[in-house]
Amino acid sequence: MLAVSEIHTYYGDSYILQGLSLTVEEGTAVALLGRNGMGKTTTIRSIMGFTPPRRGEIHFRGKDVTHWVPYRRARLGMALCPQGRRIFPSLSVEENLTMAARGRDRTKGELWDLGRIYERYPVLKDRARLKGTSLSGGEQQMLAVGRGLMTNPDLFVLDEPSEGLAPMLVRDIGKIIAELRETGLSILLVEQNITMALNVADRIYVISSGKIVYEGAPSELAANETVKRQYLGVAGGK
Ligand SMILES: Nc1ncnc2c1ncn2[C@@H]1O[C@H](COP(=O)(O)OP(=O)(O)OP(=O)(O)O)[C@@H](O)[C@H]1O
Ligand SMILES: [Mg+2]
Repeated sequence: MLAVSEIHTYYGDSYILQGLSLTVEEGTAVALLGRNGMGKTTTIRSIMGFTPPRRGEIHFRGKDVTHWVPYRRARLGMALCPQGRRIFPSLSVEENLTMAARGRDRTKGELWDLGRIYERYPVLKDRARLKGTSLSGGEQQMLAVGRGLMTNPDLFVLDEPSEGLAPMLVRDIGKIIAELRETGLSILLVEQNITMALNVADRIYVISSGKIVYEGAPSELAANETVKRQYLGVAGGK
């Protein structure tokens, strides 16, 4: 679905991603874990086309999209649920959902539309006429997920959806992402919450200072105290 090959991404003179590669196989969930400022969002910005890499390649659904503008990538089936949710404050819940809506030609799978979103996430239906930003943090995260789904993506990229949420709500969001994976959607999940990522993902990458420093199955990372301590700030608890 997605192949990122040896990308080098800069902000001006700041050299951030230094030869980063990762892949997301169709129908799988991949998590990218790493501490603050390590380059997770920059990886997403490279993939979505907001800050394209200076070197390296990005292939999506078999096409070289490295130099494509963001909207073209979106049209080919990428959607982003951005860090901090970015709910449009002047719009209602329903407007936040419908402004992004896009039907797509599909051979498989059910399309996401307002009816299906409301059926799946009834709290959004109950709040449909309220301003998006009047919702609680957990509800706003659900809205941000729903907004992304309304574009009917093939690849759903989520940037720290658990950020700022209480543990119970983190579990709820984790459950939603796991359900989406069950529908066959391909997912790239950026997280600092290791537990959530281990529960949801088929494969894990760890990023540190713009480079992938570890790749493995969730069970392997769970057992790797060195990587968790060195790159994820997990205190050695044994
Ligand atoms: N627009 C920008 N201009 C210059 N430097 C930036 C810009 N955005 C981010 N950076 C720097 O790039 C590095 C990587 O930032 P990035 O946002 O990708 O980290 P992150 O892993 O997403 O962190 P967090 O977990 O806090 O969201 C950091 O050192 C950051 O200060
Ligand atoms: Mg970030």
